[in-house]
Amino acid sequence: MEKLVSLLRIYILADDYAGYGSRYWGQHGLSLLIEIKRENAWKRLLFDTATSHEPILHNLKIMKKSLDADYIVLSHNHYDHTGGLLGILREMKKEVPVIAHPEIFKKAYAASPELRYIGAPLGLKESAEKLGAIWTLSKEPVQILPGVFTLGEIPLEEREKWEKSSGDMYYLENGEIKEDFMLDETGLAMLTPEGLVVIGGCSHPGIVSMLKRASKMSGEGQIRAVIGGFHLINASTDRIQTTVNSFRELGVQEIYAGHCTGLQAECAFEKEFGNKFHKLHAGMLIEIGAL
Ligand SMILES: [Fe+2]
Ligand SMILES: [Fe+2]
Repeated sequence: MEKLVSLLRIYILADDYAGYGSRYWGQHGLSLLIEIKRENAWKRLLFDTATSHEPILHNLKIMKKSLDADYIVLSHNHYDHTGGLLGILREMKKEVPVIAHPEIFKKAYAASPELRYIGAPLGLKESAEKLGAIWTLSKEPVQILPGVFTLGEIPLEEREKWEKSSGDMYYLENGEIKEDFMLDETGLAMLTPEGLVVIGGCSHPGIVSMLKRASKMSGEGQIRAVIGGFHLINASTDRIQTTVNSFRELGVQEIYAGHCTGLQAECAFEKEFGNKFHKLHAGMLIEIGAL
């Protein structure tokens, strides 16, 4: 794969944390606007839409950025990643490819602490189409631009042993309740001259499994940065430490974690990686590469 992405500017439009003393608004969920420079042209990709579009619009205003995106990628079906889509499309007022897994519309539930619906808004497919979404639903990886690709479905047999957990989540299919291993979750990878940049929404399939897949797919061993939610919020101390150790073994250079990563895991990353660990927050700008 060619290393054609020369510069990335990643704006954190939504995270559960707004930052200390910040004018930005936090909300449950994740949303990133990624400006990608290649061959002297810029493209804009929106990764996830958090729970609601309103805090996203507020944050964009402070950043003096517009919402105009060439592509939207939805990492997985949960409401805190898909809930803002309709409001965002209404604001963008144009046709835009929306890249996701075909099971993004499944009826997903969390079982604890109480049973609740956590899937995408009902009727999302049709409602989004009316507002300009051109669904690109694929289990396979999708190359969006040269050097920019989704990881596709991350099969169970490819996942690390300690990452194979459904986390007490379920989905309804033909009247049957099934354990949800989040096959609909994918990640985004970008190849820069400094190495791979990998983004995970909640990383339910396991962030280490996702990193290994990104390296294998691209043939790039160097991991420049890992960004997103790593869903370690309810993970055991053992799993957290194994994840941190794996990041070290994989040679991850920089980490930007927030959303569902959880305080304990964030502390473990900070302890191991020092100032190469950054706590994600709304309003943050991450720049990778050179002009
Ligand atoms: Fe999430
Ligand atoms: Fe999630």
